[in-house]
Amino acid sequence: MDRIRIVGGNELKGTIPISGAKNAALPLMIASLLTSDTLTLENVPHLADVEQLLRILGNHGVDVAVNGRRERQEESYSRTINFTCRTIVDTTAPYELVSKMRASFWVIGPLLAREGQARVSLPGGCAIGTRPVDLFLEGLQALGATLEVDAGYVNATAPKGGLIGARYVFPKVSVGATHVMMMAATLARGTTVIENAAREPEVVDLAKCLTAMGAKISGAGTQTITVDGVTSLSGARHRVLPDRIETGTYAMAVAMAGGDVVLEGTEASLLDNALDTLRLAGAHITETETGLRVVRNGNGIQPVDITTEPFPGFPTDLQAQFMALMTRSSGVSNITETIFENRFMHVQELARLGARISLSGQTARVEGVTRLKGAPVMATDLRASVSLVIAGLAAEGETMVSRVYHLDRGFERLEEKLTRCGAVVERVSD
Ligand code: UD1
Repeated sequence: MDRIRIVGGNELKGTIPISGAKNAALPLMIASLLTSDTLTLENVPHLADVEQLLRILGNHGVDVAVNGRRERQEESYSRTINFTCRTIVDTTAPYELVSKMRASFWVIGPLLAREGQARVSLPGGCAIGTRPVDLFLEGLQALGATLEVDAGYVNATAPKGGLIGARYVFPKVSVGATHVMMMAATLARGTTVIENAAREPEVVDLAKCLTAMGAKISGAGTQTITVDGVTSLSGARHRVLPDRIETGTYAMAVAMAGGDVVLEGTEASLLDNALDTLRLAGAHITETETGLRVVRNGNGIQPVDITTEPFPGFPTDLQAQFMALMTRSSGVSNITETIFENRFMHVQELARLGARISLSGQTARVEGVTRLKGAPVMATDLRASVSLVIAGLAAEGETMVSRVYHLDRGFERLEEKLTRCGAVVERVSD
């Protein structure tokens, strides 16, 4: 199994190209199930989660053609991919596939909308908490679906003539359930109003793509999304938006290691809250023509308290990385996680590097230390694992991160992107 070896101490200097967003690419790929025409997606990141979803979509009958030409070949592996689902050959998403990636449960929306039925395995738990699917089920029921949970599967059937538009108020904000409701409602009869919808940029990106496919959607990016159902959707061409979590991660890496880096191909508006937080912590961040410039020269890292919240608040997917940064601050910072109940797996690993962190319920109290020391650590989930890399960049000596398959799920060519800025980061294959 691969490991990542980091030797800390170098400042980061140079440019890092930001990839297409994993969390947008996944629902966009799933939207290809809604049409018999070809959906072309540009800027699809080359990640283990994307490859896994390609397998899942193939099982439902999606024909995938990866464009041979790599975009910005020397800089990024992001690809253009054509998805064509002439007919849905199988409405079952089996446990063996869904259990490997939670977002694959989202196929339930398009399958139900287009075929009137779906049998999708429950995704099961994961390292960051129980992550139930009740909101998806309630939302689809509001559109008239009949649902039954049996032997670990959700069996869903639409009324004769298809799903029926309705008003549904989410009791809690969910990104995935908003994606699914929006996709399901595109082909429903009549109007659907989704209240308390997720406002994440990835929801807006999906709405843009669905609109290009012929859907009638308004309000994406606000708490109320209205979808007027149409009888069919067509193909479209859409470019996946830049990855705001990858952007924030590298911005935090620069704030941690010090240096001067341009993050290319990204947009500040995708992560204003996290960038403002980083400015308070001591990073100098400016917008450039090609992206964002992040600088930290000489001055120390200031402690800042954060609380994770749905967009536009501080993203839970940057919480672990920010905690890594705070381990080297000049004081005490409190980090409160409100989205997932068990998203502190990285605390014990950061402690192995010398961090001083105490947990009390949903809040971690991080007392900055003057030095971290490299050690063997273990990646526990996607975002937690990259927080260990960030800590390793500022630790003395060697940090060896094992179980890096978590990193490969969501960070395209991480070691290469950091190395080109002067970090010592390498993949070690046993
Ligand atoms: C998405 C992101 C993930 C990010 C998360 C929150 C993708 C592929 N993943 O995950 O990286 O961390 O948003 O920003 O886009 N919940 C329920 N019932 C449900 C659904 C969710 O209680 O039916 C809860 C979850 O357990 C969690 C909260 O709602 O506590 C938010 O989860 P949700 O927004 O659905 O996260 P995902 O869409 O799975």
